[in-house]
Amino acid sequence: MNVHIFDSKEQASKAGAILFAAQLMDDPESVLGFATGSTPLGLYAELVRLNQEGIISFQEATTFNLDEYVGLEREHKESYHYFMHENLFSFLDIDEERVHVPDGMAVDPESEAVWYEDMIDEAGGIDIQLLGIGINGHIGFNEPSNVFSQATHAVELTESTIEANARFFNDKSEVPRQALTMGIGTIMGAMKIVLVAFGANKAEAVKAMIDGPVDPQCPASILQLHDDVTVLLDQEAASLLLE
Ligand code: GLP
Repeated sequence: MNVHIFDSKEQASKAGAILFAAQLMDDPESVLGFATGSTPLGLYAELVRLNQEGIISFQEATTFNLDEYVGLEREHKESYHYFMHENLFSFLDIDEERVHVPDGMAVDPESEAVWYEDMIDEAGGIDIQLLGIGINGHIGFNEPSNVFSQATHAVELTESTIEANARFFNDKSEVPRQALTMGIGTIMGAMKIVLVAFGANKAEAVKAMIDGPVDPQCPASILQLHDDVTVLLDQEAASLLLE
């Protein structure tokens, strides 16, 4: 793992955006994996700036998002489909036909998951995948478990995730209990991975991911076994790391 610690999350976000920009400059037809949550917002703002200034183009890129809540319409303000369009896609020169977010309203979430995984394979796999990390060490919505998941699948969210994500809803009872998520195997199949984490509330999860054993109780710890992972942290998120 290449771990970089920045003085501010703004600097870390710019560094992350540069990795995506470099990927697009190298191959305009790249397959990009995107994430939701508050952490990637600065990185997305920087990608929008680079695109609007004509430095990079998304016209030929394909994107796949990590996850989506089950039961939220695309138009729901807390759906990840809505989030991605509000914060990134609607400002880019991207072809909507090549934008993919799992369908949280699919009648059969398990079939949707299989179809989504097939789409990723048909696109040739993910060239660069962005990740945040949950306070319990989850990536995408792969929650702590006794095994590492493989392909895209439907999951029950843990109480800790429901509580952490309740801040985005009027009330905790409104947070969906289920989600569709790329599996750990899907994520590990990406050629490059960029993980961003900011703030003291991520310090324990970051420490377990980097310094702890590879253990499905901290799903992000599997990234120790990937050969091209860049971790971008601010000082607070890095505060518990071993020297
Ligand atoms: C959600 C998403 C994750 C994300 C996490 C952290 O649970 N499924 O992909 O990494 O939240 O969110 P935040 O960046 O807001 O802390």
